[in-house]
Amino acid sequence: MKLRYFSHSAFQITTSHNKTILIDPFLDNNPTSPVKSDEVQADYIIITHAHGDHFGDSIKIAKRTKPVFICVDELANYFISKGFNAHNMHIGGSWNFDFGKVKFTIAHHGSATPESTYAGNPAGVIINADGKSVYHTGDTGLFYDMKLIGEMNSIDYMLLPIGDNYTMGITDAVKAVELVNPKIAIPMHYNTFPVIQADPHVFQKTLEKHGRSCMVLEYGQEIEL
Ligand code: NI
Ligand code: MN
Repeated sequence: MKLRYFSHSAFQITTSHNKTILIDPFLDNNPTSPVKSDEVQADYIIITHAHGDHFGDSIKIAKRTKPVFICVDELANYFISKGFNAHNMHIGGSWNFDFGKVKFTIAHHGSATPESTYAGNPAGVIINADGKSVYHTGDTGLFYDMKLIGEMNSIDYMLLPIGDNYTMGITDAVKAVELVNPKIAIPMHYNTFPVIQADPHVFQKTLEKHGRSCMVLEYGQEIEL
């Protein structure tokens, strides 16, 4: 499977069977994304929570590419009410899709639709496909149950925020990696806005000092997992 980073919390997963999954596709109004919403494809769109910097261009992309949304129940119902396809899930539950397995986790944060209506709980997501597991934490503060998430799921790649202010900053994110114990940590949700400035290389160096692996992805970079 391939993982492409658009910047902020926006990623694209492409499986060996050529299924494309977008996560939190915030592209057009994202000053750091090298890719715009009319350039991406999607068989599935996973939205961790409905804040604008995660909900992003999902409606625009969905009108063109007709994906299945994968979200917590309340947010999935929002997309269904707008005429899109969705698979309703919720925290703690998993489901086998044609590309692999998706499981939702807790995230300590907020969530509201663009109309400021209730969008259910914010979430993180664990995606298992092509023999690899990717944990995108969503927006969250540090929480000790990450230890349980790490114990119950052997995580290969942990994608986690480091930008502070709205989410974990670097110090808490280093602790989060220690709790989950992934093979490789990948920082996200930094340097998009003035209030979330953070140096991903400081995060990387701190982790490496503790004997842990970290990859800092360039905006637009795609890696083979
Ligand atoms: Ni948020
Ligand atoms: Mn955010």
